[in-house]
Amino acid sequence: MTNKTALITGANKSIGYETARQLGKLGYRVLLGARDLERGRSAAQALVAEGLDIRPLSIDVTDEASIRDAAAWVSDHDGKLDILINNAGIPGRQPVAPSEQGVDDIRAIYETNVFGPIRVTQAFLPLLKAAERANIVMVSSGLGSLGWLSDPANMFFGVNILGYNSSKTALNAVTVAFAKELADTAIKVNAADPGYTATDFNGHTGYRTVEQAAAGIVWLATLDASGPNGAFYFEQTQVPW
Ligand SMILES: NC(=O)c1ccc[n+]([C@@H]2O[C@H](COP(=O)([O-])OP(=O)(O)OC[C@H]3O[C@@H](n4cnc5c(N)ncnc54)[C@H](OP(=O)(O)O)[C@@H]3O)[C@@H](O)[C@H]2O)c1
Repeated sequence: MTNKTALITGANKSIGYETARQLGKLGYRVLLGARDLERGRSAAQALVAEGLDIRPLSIDVTDEASIRDAAAWVSDHDGKLDILINNAGIPGRQPVAPSEQGVDDIRAIYETNVFGPIRVTQAFLPLLKAAERANIVMVSSGLGSLGWLSDPANMFFGVNILGYNSSKTALNAVTVAFAKELADTAIKVNAADPGYTATDFNGHTGYRTVEQAAAGIVWLATLDASGPNGAFYFEQTQVPW
């Protein structure tokens, strides 16, 4: 065991769940975040049955009170947090042309994908600062890369989804802002692109497995002091902002 604790939001299934499994296998105590505690409990139970140290934690990233309660629970039980993975995310209505995507839909996407990670990071920062050193990973997307989206040769060039893509571009900007603020601390903040992965998110049309997606997130989550800060990675290759 590492005596280190990781929190993953939206970990009751898919990429977050597999990330919990991989960190659990590395000896971390994992707080498996779920907005529905029953779904969280049954997901945690399945990983505990594999011999891992996993606890469900109720956290809805759109709900301030839920985030505050979750941070208070971690403060009371562990007093620190070594890894925060802002994984919870939603796609919004797809496919729809940018000219037809309503602001209400876009606002809902931003509540989860942008304001969620900001709220959670702010609430858990005192606990991350209490750790000897800590890593924050923002689970972004290649669809948030303006470099890729504006390159006609890139496979994502034609994927023009206003709400989702811009939410991940905003999350990348959030990553840079926190990384700069925390540059003189023992906390690193990076963004991960899990790649197009077969999950409920896309009706299992992705060509990557959750094991492949989680591996890159786990790499950023377990960086030592020599690792990068304020960068964006697919697997271990840097992605243009
Ligand atoms: N799959 C891909 O191809 C792909 C590619 C690039 C980036 N990503 C990103 O990777 C992350 C995980 O995606 P995924 O494919 O694993 O998606 P998923 O299968 O839809 O799972 C999303 C998870 O987030 C949770 N969630 C949604 N809204 C939440 C909220 N308000 N508070 C807390 N949890 C919430 C869901 O909980 P419920 O079970 O309660 O709904 C679920 O556990 C997302 O940020 C996504 O944008 C995915």
